[in-house]
Amino acid sequence: MKVTAIAPANIAFIKYWGRKDAKLRIPSNPSISMNLSACITKTTVEFSNDFKQDTVTKGFDEKRIIAHIDRIRDLAKTKMRAKITTNNSFPTSVGVASSASGFAALTVAAAAALGLKLSPKKLSSLARLGSGSACRSIPDGFVKWEGEYAYSLYPHDYWDLRDILVIVESKQKEISSSKGHEAVETSPFFAKRLAMIPKRIKWIEKALGEKNFPAFGKVIEEDCLDMHHVMQTQDPPLIYWNDKTREIMDTVRRWRKEGIPVYFTIDAGANVHLICEGKDERKVIETLGSRYQIIINKPARGAHLI
Ligand code: DP6
Repeated sequence: MKVTAIAPANIAFIKYWGRKDAKLRIPSNPSISMNLSACITKTTVEFSNDFKQDTVTKGFDEKRIIAHIDRIRDLAKTKMRAKITTNNSFPTSVGVASSASGFAALTVAAAAALGLKLSPKKLSSLARLGSGSACRSIPDGFVKWEGEYAYSLYPHDYWDLRDILVIVESKQKEISSSKGHEAVETSPFFAKRLAMIPKRIKWIEKALGEKNFPAFGKVIEEDCLDMHHVMQTQDPPLIYWNDKTREIMDTVRRWRKEGIPVYFTIDAGANVHLICEGKDERKVIETLGSRYQIIINKPARGAHLI
């Protein structure tokens, strides 16, 4: 059967950095994220006894994708080969991580193509084995991941937030986040980060519940800086920021003083996510000007078949 699924990337407000179990991708701490409407992967999976081998669209990580297809084949007890066609709504060259949307779309499409009827929980845990953050791209809207799977805290239309993704760098990162997770214990600040997480989760859940944007923004910036502090003090150090990243971080703080409610967060890369409420989108974009390529995201549904 041939099936197509789409899945959004997601931005973490409380980050996943470090794993209790590397092979099973069990995170060291819970994380909270929002699905991104304009960073979408579309994947078609077809299984057939006529195929002699697996094929994957060029330019994608074939080995990691086939390893994931093997997990799904095992569940369905089949050896049928697959043809996997995948593409991203955002140019792969802009340095936006696509493993979350990619493994979420692959999981949903491949499971359906093999006739597996899996619960949302099971789909999320299965996607996690492909890439940790992919488990957060399965449920709707605002999502929490703890332990084996992620679930929706609020649907995508709960709060009209924006993630204005500012592209400041397009080259692939030298050290993948998968490798980065493995060295997290070498940072003397990792244990301190873990000790802070329960409080931050409580704060962000409260801010989300009350739609208290300044309280929400404060926690997401704090957690982003904290994760990068750990990254930068790992061995080898992971320094993802460049001059433009730092410039935008400074600018955001200045804008807040000038009365524009906007906060930043940054994943394992140099690109900056500007988080604001929908009502302030125009103001933020106009103030940013036309110097950078941007991708405007709203909160989105999770992975689904089309
Ligand atoms: C910095 O999900 O890419 O974006 O499980 O090895 O695939 P793997 O790692 P990945 O790590 C994402 C790390 C992050 C923070 C986050 O998204 O929570």
